[in-house]
Amino acid sequence: MKRPFRIAVTGAAGSISNSLLFRLAAGEVFGPDQPLILQLIERPEAMEALRGMAMELEDCAFPLLHNVRLHDNIQDGFSNVHFAFLVGAKPRGPGMERADLLSANAEIFSAQGRALNDYANPDVKVLVVGNPANTNALIASRNAPDLSPSQFTAMSRLDHNRAKGMIANRFGCNASDIRKVAIWGNHSATQYPDLHHATAMGEPVWPELDPKWVDEEYIPRVQKRGAEIIAARGQSSAASAAQGAIDHMRDWYFGTPDDDFVSMCVVSDGSYGVTKGIVFSFPVRCRYGRHEIVQGLPIDEAARKRIETTEKELIDEKAGVEHLLPAETEAAHLNLRTTLRSGASRYGEEDTLDDSEASVLRTDRVL
Ligand code: NAD
Ligand code: LMR
Repeated sequence: MKRPFRIAVTGAAGSISNSLLFRLAAGEVFGPDQPLILQLIERPEAMEALRGMAMELEDCAFPLLHNVRLHDNIQDGFSNVHFAFLVGAKPRGPGMERADLLSANAEIFSAQGRALNDYANPDVKVLVVGNPANTNALIASRNAPDLSPSQFTAMSRLDHNRAKGMIANRFGCNASDIRKVAIWGNHSATQYPDLHHATAMGEPVWPELDPKWVDEEYIPRVQKRGAEIIAARGQSSAASAAQGAIDHMRDWYFGTPDDDFVSMCVVSDGSYGVTKGIVFSFPVRCRYGRHEIVQGLPIDEAARKRIETTEKELIDEKAGVEHLLPAETEAAHLNLRTTLRSGASRYGEEDTLDDSEASVLRTDRVL
C-alpha cells in the first residue's frame, strides 16, 4: 500500500472546507489509491465546529482516510505536510472589494509562511485560497526562506472554470469541449480572462465572437462573478471554490493534458513582461509536480493593456504589505530558477507529533 500523504487545510470548519474535505477524503485530488492523513487547522474558537466536521468525516468511512488530526495551531498543523490548502481567512461580504481584506488577512499568511518553512515537508506544495489570494501567497512565500517560491501558488482556477463555463454556454457545448482559456493577473475584478487562444471542440473561438460581447459582457461577468454570487447567496462562493481548489492541486500533482493549459497564480519570472516577484495568474502547464508558464502566446495591444491594469493592482497590493516581506527572500523571488525541488518527501519522522499535547485534538479512529 502507498504511504499516506499528509494534507493540511486551514479554515477547515468553514464553508469552502465543508465541500473540499469530503472530496479530498474520497480521493478526488490524489487519486483512488492514495491514503491520506488530514491535518485540519482552525482558530481556537472554531475547534468545536471542527470537531463536528471530523465526526462527519469519520462517519463517511472513507477507505483512504487514515487519520484526522485537529489543530488550533499552525506549528503542529503543518508538521510534515506534503500539501497545504490555505483556505482560512475572512471572506468579503456584500459591497466589499477583495482589496478590503488585505489588512485583515495579511498577517495570517506571514505566520503561515514561517510555519510551513519550519515544520512542513521540504517538498510541500501550497495553494492559497483565502483572499486576497495572490498577495497572501506572496506574503507566505516571502516568509519561507528555505522553500522555493515555486512551491507557493494561489487560486485562479475558479475564474478559469467560470470563464470556461460561460464560453461553453455561448457555444452551446460542454465545458470540457473548451480548451486553452487563460486568466491573467489578480484574482480580483481586474483579472483578464483571455479568449484569444481558446478553442471549442478544437476550433478557435475568437473568430466566432462579437468583440462588443467579449468586452462589455463576457469579461466583466467573469471579473465580477464572485460579487454576483455574494449578492445572490449572501455569502461567497463555496462549492465552486472547493472545485477550483481540487482541480488546481490535482493538475499540479498529476499534470495537465498536452493539448490544454490551466490558470495558476505563481511568482512571476518576468514572462510576458510581467513584473518579477509578484504572484500573478498565468496560463501554465504542469508535469512531474512542476508548473511551467506557457510561453510564446501572442498578446495584442488591447490584451497588453488589460494585463498591465491587473499587474498594477498587484504591484500596489505588494506595496501595501511591504512590511511583511522580509528583505532576505527578495532575491530568490526576483531570480527564479525553473527547477522545482522534488522527490524530497520526508516520511521517517511522521510520528514526531506529540499527541498528548492539549492543542492536538484527535478523533477516535486512528490507524
Ligand atoms: P468561512 O468564513 O466560511 O470560513 C473561513 C474559516 O477560516 C472559518 O472557519 C474561520 O474560523 C477560519 N479561519 C480564519 N482565520 C484563520 C486562521 N488564521 N487559521 C485557521 N483558520 C482560520 O469562509 P469561506 O467561504 O470558507 O472562504 C475562505 C476564504 O476563501 C475567504 O478569504 C474567501 O474570500 C476566499 N475565497 C477565495 C476564492 C478564490 O477563488 N481564490 C473563492 C472563494 C472564496
Ligand atoms: C470568488 O471569486 O467567488 C471569491 O474570491 C469570493 C469573493 O470575494 O469574490
